[in-house]
Amino acid sequence: MVGPQLHRPPFPVGWFAVAGVDELPGGALVPLAVFGQDLAVGRTPDGRALVTHSVCPHLGADLAAGGRIDDDEVVCPLHEWSFSHGGACTSAADGPIPKTARLRVWPTEVVGGTVWAFNGRDGEPPTSPPPVLDDAVDAVADTGVETRYRTTAEAGYRPEIRPGHPEDVLAGILAYIGAIDGAPCVDNPGTWVGTGPDGPRARVRGPGTVVVRRPDGVDEVVHVTPVDGFSVMVRTVTGTQLPDVEPTGADLSAFRAWYRRFDHSMTPGPLPARSGRAARRRASAAGAGETPAG
Ligand code: FES
Repeated sequence: MVGPQLHRPPFPVGWFAVAGVDELPGGALVPLAVFGQDLAVGRTPDGRALVTHSVCPHLGADLAAGGRIDDDEVVCPLHEWSFSHGGACTSAADGPIPKTARLRVWPTEVVGGTVWAFNGRDGEPPTSPPPVLDDAVDAVADTGVETRYRTTAEAGYRPEIRPGHPEDVLAGILAYIGAIDGAPCVDNPGTWVGTGPDGPRARVRGPGTVVVRRPDGVDEVVHVTPVDGFSVMVRTVTGTQLPDVEPTGADLSAFRAWYRRFDHSMTPGPLPARSGRAARRRASAAGAGETPAG
């Protein structure tokens, strides 16, 4: 079992859309199954969102089954322990606050009515914000057609679960809209521009978002978020349902090679050292022979 402090995701690292903000009941945590984990998501009274591990670090109650967001804290339904939005335990009912009681929280942003969560390695923070606002600018500049971002609730469209990995599903979408080739964006290598015979047809932003140019000139934002190793959650923000497409007939090998940039599993960072272990190492290096503290 993966502990909350040593999270090594077998999924692409980056920002993913996980919910529409107005799908969430204010003040309550609800279940969210993404990144191969059972999470909880909720909306704060001031319109921000919060994504957390759903298992309470006290005795394992499900925070998505009755947990609530009170002001700036998450409250467990079982024994009413409280946690800050950063995950620190702020109240342990009648007892002292244990130093190790910490709730894992995911970096979360609300942009354009969409709740984004950052899937990072070992809880690493994001180095850039979610990508959608840049796409709005691109859409206006390229076509003169303003992309109107709507939540799935506004569009009357429910997110759907589809089989596959985000890379395969994105490749299928590129093939569907006629992108036969492509290249990283010159100004932003984190964006892939898929081109057809008549020019750009899609921009893949990060590991799970693509803006496609429909034949009528309207740009469609599609979010693809890993649920587990076998399925993804697909959201079309402007409300059009895309058909199932097999990524055949197009040479998207360069796209697949570009997508490797979201695999951070081969370059692990240093693991956090336990204080006792670090202290013993320091004492050993110093050759003091003293009993290390901690
Ligand atoms: S299980 Fe959450 S406070 Fe006890």
